[in-house]
Parts: sequence; C-alpha cells; structure tokens
Amino acid sequence: KLEKIWLIFGISALVVFLTVIGVSAFYLGNKPPSCLTTIDPEKVDQQKPFDKPGLNKVEGKAWDYELVFVASAFSYNPGKVEVPLGAKVKVIATTKDVIHGFNVAGTNINMMLEPGYVSEYTTTFDKAGEYLIVCNEYCGAGHHLMSSMIEVV
Ligand code: CUA
Repeated sequence: KLEKIWLIFGISALVVFLTVIGVSAFYLGNKPPSCLTTIDPEKVDQQKPFDKPGLNKVEGKAWDYELVFVASAFSYNPGKVEVPLGAKVKVIATTKDVIHGFNVAGTNINMMLEPGYVSEYTTTFDKAGEYLIVCNEYCGAGHHLMSSMIEVV
C-alpha cells in the first residue's frame, strides 16, 4: 500500500516536472542560449560579420553596435576593445576550431562558442571599467591563457 503511494507520488512529480519544461519551452519560447545561426568554421574570416572583428557601429537596428569576436586556440580577436558607456551592444562570437567559452567577468554574458555556430548576446554596458573575458570551456593546453578585455569608457 505504502509503495503504491510513493509510486504515485514519484510519477506525479515527474509529470509536473515535464509539464513545466514543456510549457516553458513551447509557450514562453525558451530556447537554449543563442547558437541559432550556422557558419562555416573554415571560412569564418570571410563571412559577415566576422570579416571585421571588433566594435562596429550599425544603423537601423535595435542595438547601436555590434561587438564581434573570433575565438581560436588560444586567443580572442580582438584581444582588447573599447566600448562607449551606455551603448546598446550586440555581442556576436564564434570559434574557428574547437569549443571555447566566452565569459565576461562581472556581467551576465556567459556563452559557449561552438564551431559552426554563432553565439549572440545583446546588452548595455552601463558601468565604466575593464571587463575581463575568459574562456571557461577547457579547450587544450593554452586554455588558461585565453583572454580578452572590454574596456567601457
Ligand atoms: Cu578556449 Cu578554453
């Protein structure tokens, strides 16, 4: 008798859990972060916007700037970039080789860069300062050397 109650309890918990996931996925449009656009990792440098890494001003979009990063073992291009205070910036990043991380310390930007995929995050930097970008996916011998810097001025 007791086992039956627990079994029912267990199944109910599972059903509730799956329902919550289902509702959040389909109703609210929750998706795994970014990684919607695909790209040929072999030809990253020739494809927009990765032909121009760094900060690019854009017109007629919901954001003011596009901040483009290309990761490869074991660095980011650009290695340092200045961003104007208060500007709405869309960070767009990809990798040329293996999976790298893209974690901007002190912000909630934390993306995984996968070969063949473009990761994006739109944000506003409203505090001046230096923001260190680090790789938080183990990518090989030089993993700990991978970093870049966003300087908000
Ligand atoms: Cu790139 Cu770890």
